[in-house]
Amino acid sequence: MDAKTIDEIIEKYKNPSGMVLGILEEIQNINKYLSKDALIYVSKKINVPFSQLYSVATFYSFFNLNPVGEHIISVCTGTACHVKGAAEILKSLEYLLGITKEESTEDSKFFLTTHDGCFSLNAARCFGCCSMAPVIKVDDKMYGYVTIQNLPKILKEYGWSKK
Ligand code: FES
Repeated sequence: MDAKTIDEIIEKYKNPSGMVLGILEEIQNINKYLSKDALIYVSKKINVPFSQLYSVATFYSFFNLNPVGEHIISVCTGTACHVKGAAEILKSLEYLLGITKEESTEDSKFFLTTHDGCFSLNAARCFGCCSMAPVIKVDDKMYGYVTIQNLPKILKEYGWSKK
């Protein structure tokens, strides 16, 4: 993302240092992830230490620190979804997309992207609709009562085809 775009986002905020979340969210909405360069730039521009921005970016599960695919699939691993089989849903998605969990961060959040850059898969915390557990989200669309059997149908909506 170029500096001009980031400047335009920052200018919208009257008190940029108090509006870190909003600024980072807007950058991610455009760029799909928060690059290290963008965080460094924002840090200098609004005079908030990089370490503080990084802490915010890693604390909230909806922030991505790595480049992501065209479609982002988030599997809720909150308590209700966990009880209803979130781990199996996650495993099945890894299998269907041909990606495996190779890296994890301290908070167990992980982000995997298919080689063709079509899908990114990650684990997330409660989406606030536990009664529909297990729940997954693809981009901005929520899917409840998900089963392993209906995963291919959901993926096909986003151009996935069995290889
Ligand atoms: S635990 Fe999954 S939506 Fe709440």
